[in-house]
Amino acid sequence: MSSNPRLLVKNAQQVVLICNNGEKFLTKLGMQNLCVIENGSVVIGSDGLIEAVGPAEVLRAQYSRASFDHVIDATGMCVVPGLVDAHTHPVWEGDRVHEFAMKLAGASYMDVHRAGGGIHFTVERTRAAAPPELLASLRGRLVRMQRAGTTLVECKSGYGLELQTELKMLEAIEEARRTLPINISSTYCGAHAVPRGKSVAEATEDILRVQLPELKERMSAGALGVDNIDVFCERGVFDLGSTRAILQAGKDMGLNINFHGDELHPMNAAQLGAELGALAISHLEEVTDEGIAAMATAGTAAVLLPTTAYILRLPQPRARDMLEAGVIVALGSDFNPNAYCCSMPIVMHLACVNMKMSMPEALAAATINAAYALRRSDTHGSLEVNKHGDLLVLDTPRWEHLIYQLGGHQELIRYVVIKGNVV
Ligand code: NIG
Ligand code: FE
Repeated sequence: MSSNPRLLVKNAQQVVLICNNGEKFLTKLGMQNLCVIENGSVVIGSDGLIEAVGPAEVLRAQYSRASFDHVIDATGMCVVPGLVDAHTHPVWEGDRVHEFAMKLAGASYMDVHRAGGGIHFTVERTRAAAPPELLASLRGRLVRMQRAGTTLVECKSGYGLELQTELKMLEAIEEARRTLPINISSTYCGAHAVPRGKSVAEATEDILRVQLPELKERMSAGALGVDNIDVFCERGVFDLGSTRAILQAGKDMGLNINFHGDELHPMNAAQLGAELGALAISHLEEVTDEGIAAMATAGTAAVLLPTTAYILRLPQPRARDMLEAGVIVALGSDFNPNAYCCSMPIVMHLACVNMKMSMPEALAAATINAAYALRRSDTHGSLEVNKHGDLLVLDTPRWEHLIYQLGGHQELIRYVVIKGNVV
């Protein structure tokens, strides 16, 4: 057992468990009927795991003689699980504030990309960055996410597009994982763009013959922990054939398939992902009905990214159609130099207003379902006994304020707790 403090959060006006029957994910009906305890308490043990959660009077009787290292009196406040951000690109140098002006003036994402900007601009600067510089900016971004309530975050590489820089990015993520309280799921995204001067076939070959074998070696030596493999499957980037080859190779190494698909053009990426047993597919602005049906059947989660659709003025991801079809819908911030947003409360707000999700659906999508999309829903994403003691204490008597308020979440989120520690 570690030496975490034993924590009691008592007398909260509402404790939103999300679910309490060990569900690994929720589909529409479950998302609409979240488990909420009125006047509840939570106990987190010295192992950092949830020891008890329930009505305040029950826990008061049960723990009348117990001692705690830390007590939070949450009278008049709410408790929700820590938020899970299922899709981010947080390791890079070279912001693209200048491109925002170009996009506002009418340039599309691919116009900028083809002109050598977009991902290529950030790749150049990330290749040139020294590891400590990269780690410092990553840390700063993760701390901002944590302050906005994120306690588990997926972090991608993908601004190297060659072995050395991809490794440099994954090493920064690994260092953050070892030294920061926030929980991290690490993703190799070497196929984020086709490097300048290379064909798709050459880039795919480099990933299959050079990058993945080296990654495999470092993973088995215990030097690097990588959880997922990602590809940007898009017209003018990686086509369906190269996407299939890279994802399959990653799966053969034990990585979860979790990739960018059907964002700007309908590519049948959803069908490909379902066929390969993908854990999750992100974006899906252009998914077809057949793609939605395939994902529902395969249990492949849809990670929807409302910030991207908003910034690029894309069609909104079809959250309602997916929910009706029984797809597991999750949310992510897509934090990157294009969509500069660290805040899952803002993401949930956009999902409700623009994608027509309800507030309970958005919260489930940003907790248990996002954890599922990272294969972490056995340990994260809801307030259930033996899961990680990751929670937020909100200074409001109704949890919906977390989504209703647009910005200013630092005042609303009074405490962020990760494994029983107030961070
Ligand atoms: O998820 N679509 C591809 N990747 C990112 C954007 C990365 C970038 O523009 O730097 C996304 O939106
Ligand atoms: Fe992305």
